[in-house]
Amino acid sequence: MKKVLVVTYSQSGQLNEIVDNVIKTFKNDVQVVVERLQPDPPFPFPWTNIDFWDAMPDAVDLIPVKLKPFSFNPDDNFDLIILGFPVWFLSPAIPITSFLKSPQAARVMKGKPVLTVIGARNMWVNAQEDVKRMILDNGGKLVGNIALRDKANNLSSVVTIIYWMMTAKKDRLWGIFPKPGISDEDIADAERFGKPIYEALKRGDFTTLQKDLLELGAIDLVPNVVFMELRAKLFFRKWSKFIRKKGEHGDPNRVGRLIFFKWYLLFAIFVASPVAILLFYLFLPITWWSFRKKLAYFKGVDLKQN
Ligand SMILES: Cc1cc2nc3c(=O)[nH]c(=O)nc-3n(C[C@H](O)[C@H](O)[C@H](O)COP(=O)(O)O)c2cc1C
Repeated sequence: MKKVLVVTYSQSGQLNEIVDNVIKTFKNDVQVVVERLQPDPPFPFPWTNIDFWDAMPDAVDLIPVKLKPFSFNPDDNFDLIILGFPVWFLSPAIPITSFLKSPQAARVMKGKPVLTVIGARNMWVNAQEDVKRMILDNGGKLVGNIALRDKANNLSSVVTIIYWMMTAKKDRLWGIFPKPGISDEDIADAERFGKPIYEALKRGDFTTLQKDLLELGAIDLVPNVVFMELRAKLFFRKWSKFIRKKGEHGDPNRVGRLIFFKWYLLFAIFVASPVAILLFYLFLPITWWSFRKKLAYFKGVDLKQN
């Protein structure tokens, strides 16, 4: 009997649905233990305006919050750990960071294979680098990654995700925008990833798993989105430092700087990023060779040591 620990955090339930579909085809010779992380107090959903922006510095700087006690036994011997997470401000969602930094995660992950499942808007590669590092710090080994994204155009998905997050309604804004989040078809089709995971689990050998998952379309990167995200994270780090000088999470003294950040980000997305994309494609014939290597790296499971 193989034993799998599934750890997820999801506000709307989207990520849980994806992970449930991934493990749906496991046969009954696999025992699955599910841990749904619960921050204490919970993050609001729907979000209020300032709470949403207040999550940025803590997400980017990987600051943990308190979680309700886990129900899994960290001394159990799991054959695979599946970690499902959404991305917040180009970083792992704060409850996921909180789990990864807990002593229980270090105990349960030591020497164990870990598979990540991401459900994001479309920018997740920086967050996955943070997660890779924390898994490694816990002595775990990343053996696979599935990343699902909202396939709508980048600018319209910014509008629809803000609408979804601020109202908790996953419907078409004014009847004209696409439905927010990952499409129902992509969520349902996540079931196809179960077979190679189950087979690797039974073999006890995960060496070809990521290759098998990639063949099934586990990751599809949009070059100009990756290009923007890599630059944006550098700015987020600077903004986070600037905001935290005024106080930590929930401190009213930092509200002014959070509002400043919000307008900066909206300007960067709607005004600066279309120009940046144009420049990206203009210079692509020169940069493609090295950029292609970067894309290949982000599809893999190794961590580049800086
Ligand atoms: C505070 C916050 C920040 C987010 N930032 C990003 C981001 O940087 N990149 C991205 O692709 N998605 C981002 N998202 C979308 C989430 O990754 C995720 O798709 C969405 O919150 C639904 O996840 P759920 O399963 O928790 O409901 C953000 C969501 C929230 C709430």
